[in-house]
Amino acid sequence: MTAGQKLDARALRADFPIFEQLIHGKPLAYLDSANSSQKPRQVLDAMTTFYETSYANVHRAVHVLGERATAGLEGAREKVRAFVNAPDVREVVFVRNATEALNLVAYSWGGNNLGPGDSVVVTELEHHSNFVPWQYIARRNGAEFRMLPIDENGDADLSQLEQIARETKVKVVATNLVSNSLGTIADISPLVRWAHEHDAIFVCDAAQAAPHMRVDVQALDCDFLAISGHKMCGPSGIGVLWGRGELLRKMEPFLLGGHMINSVRYEKTTWGELPHKFEAGTSPIAEAVGLGAAIDYLEAAGLDAIEAYEHELAAYALERLADVPGIILYGPPAERRAGVVSFNLEGIHPHDVAQILDMQGVAIRAGHHCCQPLMHKLGVAATNRASFYLYTVREEIDQLVHGLHRVTEALG
Ligand SMILES: Cc1ncc(COP(=O)(O)O)c(C=O)c1O
Repeated sequence: MTAGQKLDARALRADFPIFEQLIHGKPLAYLDSANSSQKPRQVLDAMTTFYETSYANVHRAVHVLGERATAGLEGAREKVRAFVNAPDVREVVFVRNATEALNLVAYSWGGNNLGPGDSVVVTELEHHSNFVPWQYIARRNGAEFRMLPIDENGDADLSQLEQIARETKVKVVATNLVSNSLGTIADISPLVRWAHEHDAIFVCDAAQAAPHMRVDVQALDCDFLAISGHKMCGPSGIGVLWGRGELLRKMEPFLLGGHMINSVRYEKTTWGELPHKFEAGTSPIAEAVGLGAAIDYLEAAGLDAIEAYEHELAAYALERLADVPGIILYGPPAERRAGVVSFNLEGIHPHDVAQILDMQGVAIRAGHHCCQPLMHKLGVAATNRASFYLYTVREEIDQLVHGLHRVTEALG
């Protein structure tokens, strides 16, 4: 990407076959990309071509197809390495999704390093995938599980940190970089510094960040980072855990079986080298090829251009939505959020809102967004959430606003 590159959403949108259809006779306004993104033809074609010409299992066959498939998988690993600016490609572990990446760290690192007197610190804004595994493993190991409260913008209250450090030995700090519910882009640097001052590891949930902005593991100075392919124009079934080599090398494997071993004897089994130690069983091979193509696609569009465009869309949406009668908007100002807007309509259940919108071709998400602690904080059971991506156009936001007026006429 060139500096100052501007994103042409309309041109990009033409790459996505899903938009060629009508939904309930209406153009599709797909405002659910934070849930899962749509896929461009470039990704679909890369996977189809791979299956048609190069598919076999990887790392096991000496035949031509086995070699091509292995090159496809390992080529994708290198693309991921460059995408997150990891120092070493062996630190890039393919998993199923961000949830598995976070569980891997919780079980393999947390399970063997946490004990009584230790603590794991998360925020109130975490997705359940970066909350529940830590809550579980901390309590299972007799460690403390501490949650930093957040304010209405989604910023974590850091005033408790010193108390936590006095009362416990901090071992893990785990937070997201971009919130899936409020869209808040967090400044994690004070927490990373604090974690490292106390010799704790910092685990970054980048499931919502990686699709929308440049994520650089060295600049973030985190120790682990989790990504889901399906949220960034890639296929479902593949995610990435990046971890510092020196930590990954010391960790026990998470899943056991084929491919992750060095030698197996009745008396003893030894583990393979990185990243294979953490990649038991057959890999998501075509999915990796698809993820590699998705990274090429995002890089061509430009991560900075995507981020800037989403700020524009968020600003436009917040301005237009403010006119809807009875609307309650949650989260920070547009310049501090990715393309995510959560809201409620006073007295109308989010599921009813989403259902009526669907009849008008507008796809949003209604629910707790796997953030029940946040919903509890907001004093609601659920919210509506519209989320945008590089293929979103303003007409879709107009369609949403028009639909919400119809909802308030019908139910308000
Ligand atoms: C912030 C965040 N973390 C983690 C996840 C989990 O991702 P996945 O369901 O792909 O494992 C999500 C999914 O919505 C998310 O938004």
